[in-house]
Formats: sequence, structure tokens, C-alpha cells
Amino acid sequence: VTLDVKAQHLDVRTPAFCLNLPLPHPVYRSQQAGPLTAAEKILAAHLHPEAARLDRGKYNLFYPDRVNLQDASAQTALLQFMLTRAPSVSVPTSVHCDHLIVGSPEGADRDLALAKDQNEEVFSFLESASKRFGVAFWPPGSGIIHQIVLENYASPGMLMIGCDSHTPNAGGLGCLAIGVGGADAVEVMSGQPWELLVPKIIGVELKGRLNKWCSAKDIILHLAGQLTVKGGTGHIIEYFGPGTQTLSCTGMATICNMGAEVGATTSIFPYAEPQEAYLRFTGRGAQADEANAVAHDLLRADPGCAYDQVITVDLDQLEPHFNGPFTPDLATPLSAFANQAREKQWPLELSAALIGSCTNSSYEDMTRAASIAQQAIDKGLTAAVPFFITPGSEQILQTCRRDGVLDVLERAGGTVLANACGPCIGQWSRPTMEDGVPNSILSSFNRNFAGRNDGNKQTHNFLCSPEIVTAMAFSKSLTFNPLTDSLLAADGTSFKFSPPEGESLSAAGFENNVVKPSAVPEPDLSINVSIDPTSTRLQRLDAFAPWDGQDFQNLRVLIKVKGKCTTDHISAAGPWLKYKGHLENISQNTLITAVNAEHDRLNSVRNYLVDGENYGTIPEVAAAYRDAGVQWIIVGDENYGEGSAREHAAMQPRFLGCVAVVCRSFARIHETNLKRQGVFPLTFADPNDYDQLCSSDIVDLIGLRPGEAPALRVRRSEQEEEFTVPLRHTLSPIQMDWIRSGSALNYIAQTIAA
Ligand code: F3S
Repeated sequence: VTLDVKAQHLDVRTPAFCLNLPLPHPVYRSQQAGPLTAAEKILAAHLHPEAARLDRGKYNLFYPDRVNLQDASAQTALLQFMLTRAPSVSVPTSVHCDHLIVGSPEGADRDLALAKDQNEEVFSFLESASKRFGVAFWPPGSGIIHQIVLENYASPGMLMIGCDSHTPNAGGLGCLAIGVGGADAVEVMSGQPWELLVPKIIGVELKGRLNKWCSAKDIILHLAGQLTVKGGTGHIIEYFGPGTQTLSCTGMATICNMGAEVGATTSIFPYAEPQEAYLRFTGRGAQADEANAVAHDLLRADPGCAYDQVITVDLDQLEPHFNGPFTPDLATPLSAFANQAREKQWPLELSAALIGSCTNSSYEDMTRAASIAQQAIDKGLTAAVPFFITPGSEQILQTCRRDGVLDVLERAGGTVLANACGPCIGQWSRPTMEDGVPNSILSSFNRNFAGRNDGNKQTHNFLCSPEIVTAMAFSKSLTFNPLTDSLLAADGTSFKFSPPEGESLSAAGFENNVVKPSAVPEPDLSINVSIDPTSTRLQRLDAFAPWDGQDFQNLRVLIKVKGKCTTDHISAAGPWLKYKGHLENISQNTLITAVNAEHDRLNSVRNYLVDGENYGTIPEVAAAYRDAGVQWIIVGDENYGEGSAREHAAMQPRFLGCVAVVCRSFARIHETNLKRQGVFPLTFADPNDYDQLCSSDIVDLIGLRPGEAPALRVRRSEQEEEFTVPLRHTLSPIQMDWIRSGSALNYIAQTIAA
């Protein structure tokens, strides 16, 4: 679909509520270009003024309205921003301290105090850099980025980027919110236009109404099974149809949040009554009024708009789902789950139940979970396994506390963790579970890669709705079906759960005692952001060296990765999160959990600079190559770099001397992150050529200049003939400039200096 946009930059302005700032932006007049989807209207409204067209599948330049950073990604983003020498941020930006807080059975108060103590240097850096550059700083304990953004910043019609893959959460409020790497954020923060490959659009039609045991979570769990972790790649998922009107705004946010699990660029719902109600509930009645005035023209799809693919989900037919283990697209409906668990020999005894996180900590989620918990309490039961609740924000915590919702969950045996990511990102202290012991947990989180929650690769995490997690917590068995099976009450009688009940918003409104930073603080130029050169947590960044435009000769294949390689495999989280601000130290985790196709082992690669069969860890050998002046490449399989927006997964290989990743296919954010860090992301023209390469090969990378055909020239041994493997890339002219400059950051710094 091609839209002739230039003539449409008329006198209409994006309403100020979309920006939290009176910045003028041209708005696309949909009437003059044929029917548009809601996402297209937002993209067109944020196009660079000189952009003439909006072509799906082609690069274009945009001006996003705001940037959100979480504490792990913010360290690098702010360190990179400092390299640009820009005096302050050019668009509203916020930093949220949520990833560095460990959740433990001891609960929120102790965990928060410990986290503040252990991360004092990092939190101080983030706070002082935020003040210096005019960024809103949300301290540890204030909540998880996506929940705070939904409550305070996201607006219908806004184009937002965030350094976290679940940024699309804000799509529930009609905001086009895209997860990116830190270098993208720095580009926007420093006032540059931002380049995006305009996605295609999958229309998901929701029909009917969910039955009482189902929730919004089950819609996206079902869709993930249908689309798989790659099915949304290069697409926006736009929801429409009468079923959308049966969901709450926060339920829609859950669905958009987990669009990341199918690789979608973002997901969005049209603006209607549920969004209006949420805006009013969160104290933004004036925004609701303004949105109502333009909703028909600007915030909803036009009848007859074109989708590249349409999927219909009949909500009446949907069952609760369990997705996992180890991948979010292995979807099993409840009625088949017990048999599946037995057949697949998953550990049948449940070892922990976790609800909340950025995905599922809304008032509706908590009240529905509490309604199940109350039924069990009434029968004299408490949870049969450790039961953890992670509130998404201080505001939702206080609201649930005031209304007695948390009291119910605690009386059921639940432990309230800090308002932070905690177990969702490997920040889970779990003293009762030994590493390596196979066990099953249920969570309402969004992601379940091996090792993600407690660091134990044998923890089987099944994703489901908070109410299903809660019901199962009283049985301790993975084969329990809360819809049909009975439990034994304390008095020896048996009982069945009734379906959960909840309220999407509290009748008493949102508790509003929370101290909030100014949305757009003035930069404090008097602050000197200092970094201790002996710190193990923070390190100033040096600019990467530019590319001379020549072919690369005599490259080593550091590793040929076999199978799934997510950003967790390339740059693990958990305990490594503490080194996010120190590139040299965090690089010690590079690819340590990726499977080496040469021998199927982890973190072991041959060092070809040393005679004999000399194997070392991946970071060791990579650094040895770099220090000897030998550049190297990674060979990857399908959907390389899936998962998060983690830009360290691109920065670390670059820091260690990687010049290219060659694979069968890439996950979108990671592919862009590689380009921004000056690494060539290349795919095999014929995916079968993956099988041709060995880790012992010496290769030349040729044909990278514009107009040439990229290829690998492969030499194996003196006995075998050299052969050529054709490659492809998706580098636009600007992205080529990034690589030529050494990184996108170098390019921005040159642009600002000029
Ligand atoms: Fe945090 Fe997990 Fe969400 S890491 S941002 S709670 S996906």
C-alpha cells in the first residue's frame, strides 16, 4: 500500500494531548488518501516533513513524540547520549528504575532497600544524568516502565519509542509504541529524525465475547500459538472488530505487550470507550475530551482499509491457554494441557506461582485473581506453593492496597514483591530451588526462555492468565483443571472454583498519593555527570572505529550458532544486568549460552590463532582475536536475536571485534541494533547455505558497497576449492552511513557537530 502523503500536510495539528507538549506536528488527512488503518494514520502524522510517501516495507523517517528508558538500557543510552554532546533531550524522555531490583520471599521492603544499596552508583548516575539532560526520573520502587507509561504518558495518537521490547504495551491506549535499542533512542533524544522500515499490517478481527474463565491474556497466548515467535516480524498487529469493545483498556495493553512475543513491530487497538474510561480513571479527563473530538478521523481505522493479512479470533470459542515451556508460542488450551504435560514429561508438580509484571498487573487482573483467592480462603486454604505478586506500579499497588485486593492475596499466602521486574527478568532470589533441578512454574509474565526467571535452565515456565495461575497455586499440580476439577477444603469437603470476577477500574478511582516527577523537567546545566574510572558498574564509552569501505579479508568464524539464539543467549540478563553500564565487564557474557554447532556445547569455541585443538570461552577467544587484530563474524540460524530490544547483544560483539552476523533470518530489533553499532547484518540468499559453513572457515566479506552483491568467499583448506556464498542485506543509505561512520552514534555526533 502506498500513500501519497506530501500533499496531505495540512493545517491540522496533532492534539497537544498526544505530546504532553505543545509541539506542532503535521497530521495526515485521511479523507484525501483513501481508507487508512489506525496505525497508518499515526505513522503518517509523524513523518519527516520531506517524506513524500508512506510505503509499507520501505524505510522512512519519523519524528516520535517521546522516549522511555528502563534502568538497564538507560545506562547505555545515557552514556551514548553523552557522546553526542547534545545539551539536553529534544523530546520528552523518562527513565524508570525497574530491572535492577531482585525479588525474594522476604518481600518488597527488604528487596527494595537491598537493591538501592547494591545499585547506588547506577541509580545516582541515572538520576544525575536525567536531571542534567532534562529527563523525568522514576526512582526504584515507583514501578515497571510499561505500567507507569500507560498510567501517565501514553496517549491515543502518540508515536512513542522505548528501550524495551514490551514498549508496545501502550498500544492498548491507542498509542503506536515501538521497542528499540538505545542508539535509536539517542537519535530521537538528540532531535534527529528516526528511521523505521514501515511495517506491513496484520489485521486481527476479534468477534464475540470471552467466556468467564478467559481473559485478554488468552487472546494473545492463542495468537502466539498461531503466529509463532516469527509470525509478526515486520508487521504491526492492528486489532479491530466488535470483540475489541468487550475488553478493558488494560486488557488490550496486555495483548499489545505480548505482541513482542510474535516478533511484531508493535500492536495497537483503536481508540474507543475503554480507552476513554482509562484516561479519566488515571486523571486525564482533558485528554479524553480532546481524543473524543478527533477519534473518528484520527484514532480509528477507516472502513475498507487494507490489511496485508487478516486473522479472525472468535472469543466465544476461546479457552484459557498455557504457553510454554521455554518458548511463548508453544500454546496449549487448558482442556489439553494435563495430557500434554504427562506426554511431554514436564515436571507435574508445580513449584511456584507468580502473577503481576508489566504484562498483567492491572486492577482487573488483581481483582480477578483475588476473587479466586477469596474462594480458596473461604474453604480454609492457602496457596500450596510459593505465590508471588508483582505490582506494576506504586499507583496500582496503593489502589489495590486501599481496596483490600492485596489483603486477600496476602491472606491466601501470597508475597507482594517490589514494584519492579524481579522474577520476570531473572532477578529472582529462590533459595529453596537448586540450580539444575527440573521444575514447573506458572506465571502471568510474557516471556519464558530457558533460564530467564531464576537462572535455572530447568525451570519450565508456563505463561497463563493471573486468575488461572492463582487457581492452580492452590492445587500444586500441573494437571489440575480449575474449570472442571475439585479441590479438598480444610474441612474435608470438596469444592470447585466459580469463574473469576473482577472490575476493570476501581469505583473509588486511582489512589493518587504517588510522588511523580515533572513530565518534562528543565535540564540542570550545572550538574556534572561524573563516572569513577575505577568503577566496575559504569564505564565511559569510546566511539567505535569507522569502516574504510573496503572488503573484509581473512575473517574468522568465531562461532556457528545452532538453533534458537535469542538476545538472552547473546547477552544474558539475571546477574549480568548489574554490568549494563560497563561494556567491558558485561562483554564477558557474550554468547555464553548459545549452542556451538561444531560440538553442541555451550561457551566453548576453538581459538585458531593457537596451534592444536585449543578451546576457550567465547568471550576469551573473541577478545584474543580482537587483540591480535583479527576480525570475525558470527554465523546464525533462524530468527537470530529474537526476544528483547537488548542492544548489548549488538554492542558486545562489536566491542569484541565482530564485523558481521550472517544468518538465515533476523529478529527486527536486533537487526537494526547491529546496524546501529556498525555491524553488518547479512542473511543467506539461500537459507540452505547455513549448512555449508564451518567454524574452521576463513572468509572474505565482499560486495558491501552500494550497488554490489554481498557475498562470503569461503576458504576451508588447501585441498578444497574456495567457494562463494551469496548474501543479502537490508541496509538503507543512511544505515550504510552509520556503518561507514563506525556506528549510528558516531554519525549523529558528526551531524550535531556540523
Ligand atoms: Fe520488566 Fe519483564 Fe516487563 S523485565 S519490563 S516486567 S517483561
